[in-house]
Amino acid sequence: MIMEEVLEVAANRPVASMPWPTFGSLLSYSQRPLPHPFSSPGMTLWTSARIALWQAIRSLDLKSGDRVAVPAFCCGSELEPFLIAGLELSFFAVGEDLAPDPTSFRKAIDGSSAAMVTHYFGLPVDLEPALEMTRRKGIPLIEDCAHALYTTRAGEQVGLAGDAAIYSFWKTVALPDGGALHMRKGTEKGAPKPPPPELIRKATRHLLSRTLRSHPSAILRKTEGMRQQLRRGAGSIQLREKGGDEWHLIKFPNELIGAGMSSRSLRIFRATDHAHVRERRRHNYIRLQEALAEIPGIVPLVPHLPDGACPLYFPVVVEEAARLRRALAAEAVGVKHIWPYFHAAVPWERFPREHHWKEKAIGFPVHQSLREEDIERLIDVVKRWSGR
Ligand SMILES: Cc1ncc(COP(=O)(O)O)c(C=O)c1O
Repeated sequence: MIMEEVLEVAANRPVASMPWPTFGSLLSYSQRPLPHPFSSPGMTLWTSARIALWQAIRSLDLKSGDRVAVPAFCCGSELEPFLIAGLELSFFAVGEDLAPDPTSFRKAIDGSSAAMVTHYFGLPVDLEPALEMTRRKGIPLIEDCAHALYTTRAGEQVGLAGDAAIYSFWKTVALPDGGALHMRKGTEKGAPKPPPPELIRKATRHLLSRTLRSHPSAILRKTEGMRQQLRRGAGSIQLREKGGDEWHLIKFPNELIGAGMSSRSLRIFRATDHAHVRERRRHNYIRLQEALAEIPGIVPLVPHLPDGACPLYFPVVVEEAARLRRALAAEAVGVKHIWPYFHAAVPWERFPREHHWKEKAIGFPVHQSLREEDIERLIDVVKRWSGR
């Protein structure tokens, strides 16, 4: 039975929801400078955005018992560094434009020592009102740019306006790890140490497996599919389905506190064609948005792709999200169930819209490893699912 499933899945090249590396990129050795602003003063490189956030908490002198205003629409993993550091959380709502709702934000920052705002899915939010309110209160604003590695707003990289910003490189580029912290005043405390080599080896094997499972050669795909079945459970993902629709969060990795970005990720990142990644992601997003515009029941989370955005996914709200996810999975088309984990720290009853998004939003892949035929296949599956 297992064998039959593997062969069936491998018959069509799977469309993975995240990018995969080329064999060449894994071996690349480049001394090219990092793109702006990642080599600027005030920027330090860490193994992930969560570890960068941990450093931000220290650098901003936030102490156990302090309160931080954070968005209720969240993945959950970005709350963990605050909670582990003993901080209290005060939640605010976000509006239809995904920017902080001004009234809710004002309330949340009352009595808070800092605030964090998220640029969701690489779509830049207007920070001006939040910046003005936090400046007036004299508290720092952290920008969560984990999804917005290459996103600009008004021609400027997102993350440089706030007092601190965190980035996650490995979500946008196929790297074993990588994140960054930007401190506007350059007051970063502590220097990164190398991450555990075994972790990087494991993440690299996971990436390589993604490459093999997406390979045009059916033989390679089948071999890798069988190997995976035999080694069930291999890979490093953050959220795993426990059964049915129950999810849990892999906790903040305490053992990685202080871990920098690996030298392997740095080499691959230096060799990356950043403009190409941005161009492909925008192209795929617009292609999907146009092709799926007429499908009833699929509503883009934002009406237009903003100028300067480098999208992580094409996020849409679908009433029958679970059924669509199953239809896509049956044809080996990966789709991101946006944030299925409901973190216990969030008072969900106060945030019905965020709760609804977490249940119903999915992210269609738009990444740079996809070819035109992958996008066409995705569109075809969605159209057949909708009966069009
Ligand atoms: C909005 C947001 N911020 C931060 C993070 C943490 O990023 P990393 O996995 O690089 O620690 C995530 C991760 O899933 C996220 O979705």
